Amino acid sequence: MKPVLTIQLNSGYEMPAIGYGTWQIAKSKTTDKVREALDAGYRHIDSAPSFRNQAEVGMAVKNWCSSGKSGREELFLSSKIWNTHHSREKCLQQIDEMLTDFDTNYMDLVVIHWPFGWAEDDAGGYLPRGNDGKFIASNVDYLETWKALEDAHRSGKIRSIGLANFNLEQVERIWTKGLIKPAVLQVEMNPFFTQKEVREYCREKGIALLATMTTGNPGSSCYRKHEDPNLLYNETLIAIAKSHGKTVPQTILRWIIDIGHTAVIKSVESKRIRQNINIFKFHLSTDQIERIEHLNLNFRILNPWLGNESHPHFPWPYVKE
Ligand SMILES: NC(=O)c1ccc[n+]([C@@H]2O[C@H](COP(=O)([O-])OP(=O)(O)OC[C@H]3O[C@@H](n4cnc5c(N)ncnc54)[C@H](OP(=O)(O)O)[C@@H]3O)[C@@H](O)[C@H]2O)c1
Repeated sequence: MKPVLTIQLNSGYEMPAIGYGTWQIAKSKTTDKVREALDAGYRHIDSAPSFRNQAEVGMAVKNWCSSGKSGREELFLSSKIWNTHHSREKCLQQIDEMLTDFDTNYMDLVVIHWPFGWAEDDAGGYLPRGNDGKFIASNVDYLETWKALEDAHRSGKIRSIGLANFNLEQVERIWTKGLIKPAVLQVEMNPFFTQKEVREYCREKGIALLATMTTGNPGSSCYRKHEDPNLLYNETLIAIAKSHGKTVPQTILRWIIDIGHTAVIKSVESKRIRQNINIFKFHLSTDQIERIEHLNLNFRILNPWLGNESHPHFPWPYVKE
């Protein structure tokens, strides 16, 4: 089964418009959940070494392909370069590990997870902190990481390369200094954080915007505070969802598709896994899209500033608690 909707990337490849996210899925559940997602029709699977379950995601993909349910070519596998792997050597090593995890000879998409690099010695692990509790910055420029990704693309190990959580100045620096243009920019986007400037920039440059945290990661206390606004209870979204006989997350995903972008969504609930990809048989009206755009609060959830205060490549202004 082919994905219902794909978009053309500037690399020449197609990306399924809705991806299944794997952040915050327990290792023990990951293989089953990714299999459920594949059964439900997702063909784009978003993973990352820092999610600490990539091998389990890869296992689901290996089982899927060897069962003959679809060929590798029908899947779109994506992963990320973590902050402790920004140097050329470490970046290339991490790419090889992805290929091993997925038992494949190419990744469809690899993005630099964050613009800031951290200490790379193995002793620090994935979250290297000094005695003061702060992350230990590396002095690797993300341009070095980009050039390693370009080389991996040229050698055929990655079909499309991109960025995540970079601000527009940083994206522009890659755009002008890199030899290959970013195909994808993965950023937080939802009705409380509509990212209009980023959307316009991506449209102008022909970069695909891949939205994450589309429901605002409602069940998690990682970055979210209890009192933060919750999209699932928003009256406008509930009313629009009701008018289509859909859920709020389905409505948000449809908004993202209707305005020309793409999204990744995670759930471990079987019913929601199936619901979240069942969004291709309805459209929002112009008025409904307008009403959703008006919900914008410029409210960002993902903001790992704490412990990163002095990193020269931190992408956003400090937001006081
Ligand atoms: N590049 C990056 O830095 C970055 C950052 C964040 C995320 N991502 C990627 O994007 C993916 C999605 O982001 P996310 O997981 O943070 O946020 P999200 O998709 O907005 O939120 C996922 C949360 O929403 C709940 N949910 C999903 N569908 C639902 C539904 N139909 N009704 C009610 N609740 C629902 C899930 O709970 P249940 O599981 O209990 O259903 C889960 O707690 C991640 O998994 C990851 O792959 C990348």
